[in-house]
Amino acid sequence: MLKKRETFLPYCLPYWDDNELESVQAAIRSNWWSRGPKTGEFEQAFGTFVGGRHAVGVNSCTAALHTALAAKGIGPGDEVITTPMTFCSTANVICHVGATPVFADVRPDTGCIDPAAVARAVTPRTKAVIPVHYAGQPCDMDAIDAIADAHDLFVLEDAAHAVYTTYKGRRIGAKHTVAFSFYATKNLATGEGGMLVTDDAELADRARVFVSHGMSRGAWNRYAKGGSWRYDVEIAGFKYNMTDLQAALGLTQLDRLAYMQERRETYAGLYSDLFRDVRGVRPPVDGGLGRNAWHLYIIRVKKDELDIGRDAFIEELHDYNIGTSVHFIPVHLHPFYREHYGTCEGDFPVAEGIFEEIISLPLYPSMTEEDVRYVAGAVREICARHAK
Ligand SMILES: Cc1ncc(COP(=O)(O)O)c(C=O)c1O
Repeated sequence: MLKKRETFLPYCLPYWDDNELESVQAAIRSNWWSRGPKTGEFEQAFGTFVGGRHAVGVNSCTAALHTALAAKGIGPGDEVITTPMTFCSTANVICHVGATPVFADVRPDTGCIDPAAVARAVTPRTKAVIPVHYAGQPCDMDAIDAIADAHDLFVLEDAAHAVYTTYKGRRIGAKHTVAFSFYATKNLATGEGGMLVTDDAELADRARVFVSHGMSRGAWNRYAKGGSWRYDVEIAGFKYNMTDLQAALGLTQLDRLAYMQERRETYAGLYSDLFRDVRGVRPPVDGGLGRNAWHLYIIRVKKDELDIGRDAFIEELHDYNIGTSVHFIPVHLHPFYREHYGTCEGDFPVAEGIFEEIISLPLYPSMTEEDVRYVAGAVREICARHAK
């Protein structure tokens, strides 16, 4: 019997040390507390890291997604295809611009959007598709690009989980328009924060205006020597800019990203080794399309092999003092989507089936190997106790 730990192991924690403290202190001392030169530096550094041409720092991935759709001119009467297996914000932003979200089911192995389902969902009103690199695995971008090319669709990648993900050797962010998240739980964290990276110079210009109230370009610098107090409001924009406090954190995190990724890969590999012969759960399946950023380590609870379901499994893990999460409740099942778009249970059976089985286990760089072995031991014991 595994000896239960006395302290709670959270499902996720940010990774930091004195470097983060010092970089934020320096940003405070610089007196640039909102957007300033550090944000520009981080945009440059992150854009270079992913291989993207234009990077716009924002205060969330949600802001980046909304900005991209707005800058592309997507609005009422348009349809945008996305996955139900995502956080609500991917779909919410489609509603924010007045367009209609249309869901396409996912692949049963990786949980990423199924290109065949995307193709079936296209109508004459479809203007864009938002694939989500679920849990850190890349979507099948060649297949999605082929559909987008055939129907002249805007491809906007939700890369909230995909800082470090590659697709067939190129980093996510090197092509298309891509939205990253730096939320506190993410692989690179700045508390709240995000980045819009795009190969479209015009879209980037419009995005810079949109994220700063719609004020003409460069207005952020209006209080500095040489900056002009005069600005024009070109559109009714949003307040979505990144701050230098976030950018300072981001630059420090970027410096240690390779190490953090190495920890995630090591722990994910260890989990999968330890689950290899465990009946009752299934470790994540590699889709074979690129490098997994391992934002999440998601196991599936096999109902036919156990006498308990996913919810009871989570409660038992909690008794072992282990925090977990579920990514995600399929978006089409939320009341807003049911009420406004008439979606219901049974619409996307693959996503719904996955949802019934999934648990996200703790996976983050500041965990120890002992923590990983403890979680795997608890999973093993629960499976043994409830084997059918
Ligand atoms: C797939 C996905 N997209 C978008 C978001 C939104 O990110 P943010 O909190 O930075 O707006 C999240 C956040 O968890 C997410 O998981």
